Parts: sequence; C-alpha cells; structure tokens
Amino acid sequence: STMERSSTLFNILEVDGIPLPVLSKEMWNKISNFQARPDDLFLVTYPKSGTTWMQEILDMIKNDGDVEKCKRVNTLERYPFLEVKFPHKEKPDLEIALEMSSPRLIKTHLPSHLIPPSIWKENCKIIYVARNAKDCLVSFYHFHRMASLLPDPQNFEEFYEKFMSGKVLFGSWFDHVKGWWAAKDTHQILYLFYEDIKKDPKREIEKILKFLEKDISEEILNKIIYHTSFDVMKQNPMTNYTTLPTSIMDHSISPFMRKGMPGDWKNYFTVAQNEEFDKDYQKKMTGSTLTFRTEI
Ligand code: A3P
Repeated sequence: STMERSSTLFNILEVDGIPLPVLSKEMWNKISNFQARPDDLFLVTYPKSGTTWMQEILDMIKNDGDVEKCKRVNTLERYPFLEVKFPHKEKPDLEIALEMSSPRLIKTHLPSHLIPPSIWKENCKIIYVARNAKDCLVSFYHFHRMASLLPDPQNFEEFYEKFMSGKVLFGSWFDHVKGWWAAKDTHQILYLFYEDIKKDPKREIEKILKFLEKDISEEILNKIIYHTSFDVMKQNPMTNYTTLPTSIMDHSISPFMRKGMPGDWKNYFTVAQNEEFDKDYQKKMTGSTLTFRTEI
C-alpha cells in the first residue's frame, strides 16, 4: 500500500476550476497583476513536457554556450517559476522575478486564459513546449510519486483517471495544449514539440534562434546540443534537481531525469487503457489541428 501524505505543502487553490499550486487568493491576485517587461521571455509548458530541458537550452543560448555560467546554480534558482512559492526559498518566485535584471527568463505552467494580461499587453515573446499526452501522463505520475509537495498519486490507474478528467495541477492537458495552440495565432508564440526536439534538436534550436533573432556559431550550437542532451543533463547536478532537499524531490523513488524517451507510455498503459484513451482523445481534440507523435 502507498504511504499516506499527511499534507502537501502546496495549498491547492482552484481558479476557474483549475487546481493551481498557489498559496492564497491574495497570492493569485499578485500573479494576475504581474507586470511583464517587453524583453521578458516566457517559457510555458504543461507540467512534464520538457520544461527543464528547454530551460537549459534557453540559458545556454542566453549565455552563448558558456557551460560554466549555466552551472552557476540549479535550474530552480536560475529561473523564477511565476506562480510558485517554494518552501526552501524565502520569497515567492514572483517577488524574485520583480527584483531580477532584464532580460528575464520566466517559467510558468499557467493555461493561456490565466496568464497575467500584462504579458499580452507588453507583447512578450513566449516559447511553448508541448509533449504527447500519453508520455506526459506517465511522466507526471512518476513525478507525483517523487515530489512530496504534490498529492500522492496512489497508483497508475487512479492517476490515469485524474489526468483524463483534468483533476490534476494545472488542469486538463487537452485544454492547455489547445488553448496555447489557439493563442499563437494572435501572439508572439513559438510552439514546439518535445518529440521534435528529441528527434532533431539542431533544427528545433535553429527555430528558437530565429524566433529570438539571435545568431550563434555552429560550434556553439553543437555545444548546446551536447550539453542539453538527456545523458549529460542527467549527470549535471545543476540540471537534474539532485541538489534539492529530499523533502522536495526524492530521487530514490524515481529520478527527475527519468527516461527522456518518447514512447515510454507503452510500458504503462494496458491495452484497455490505451483503447479508452484513444477514444477519449478523439473526442477531446475534435476540431483541433494539433497533432502529436506518440513515438519517434
Ligand atoms: P520522463 O519522466 O518521461 O523521463 P519537465 O521538465 O517539464 O518537468 O519535464 C520532465 C521530463 O522531461 C522528464 O520526462 C525528463 O526526463 C525529461 N527531460 C528532461 N531533460 C531532458 C532532456 N535533455 N532530453 C529529453 N528529455 C528530458
């Protein structure tokens, strides 16, 4: 049987029926009123879609491939996570962001309709990374097992149900990917896919460079690809989250850098779950032009 978690450190506030890891209504107001700057770059993802990977790619681009600079502190300390207050930090990340010098790189998991309006108003650039739902679900399940700030997932079956009904942090994967897909028609959003980055990191990083209007040499580009590969990031304490206290992430249960492979869902979904999933997926994605690869 699974161990009971007496309490989660994230007080889960629901906004528009979407569970958010926000401490209070007051904090939510601060988030909604967050003042973006025109040169901010926002990285938006549904959880477990390759956020940490993209954070490393963007920090490497920003630092012209200087690995040592990117190793200054771990990912959580390098990037403010807009809507979160971590127990091991003195202040909410939002306040840390307010004190940061420009240009800022800011991470958020908010769905498009809950994003602070100033981000639209300032016409900030946004990079969105989407990952196929099946792998996202499996990764999110394991993350709930090892991240004790999140509710105990019980078992795969229970988590599967919660994920499909959108009763997880940041709500429905379906609404999230569709909402941001629609938003890209009217805003400066580069919409990328985890599977594409895995398949051809060079091509995808080149898209990012174009979007950011930045030129780098072939040598630096290759350095970025190498430094942000799964195996290298898995060994790097500044990207693999092993520097965090075990009370936040317990890598002995499941490492944060777990598999990094499209198609791992096949090891978890039963045939019946897969059929049910595909049917439900069809319904939920009807009318959308979005397509995903569930393996490469
Ligand atoms: P898995 O659990 O499937 O291994 P996020 O950073 O959004 O929380 O996403 C975490 C997922 O991205 C994990 O997926 C993790 O292993 C994977 N990941 C992290 N860095 C990666 C990299 N460099 N290449 C491929 N996948 C990576």
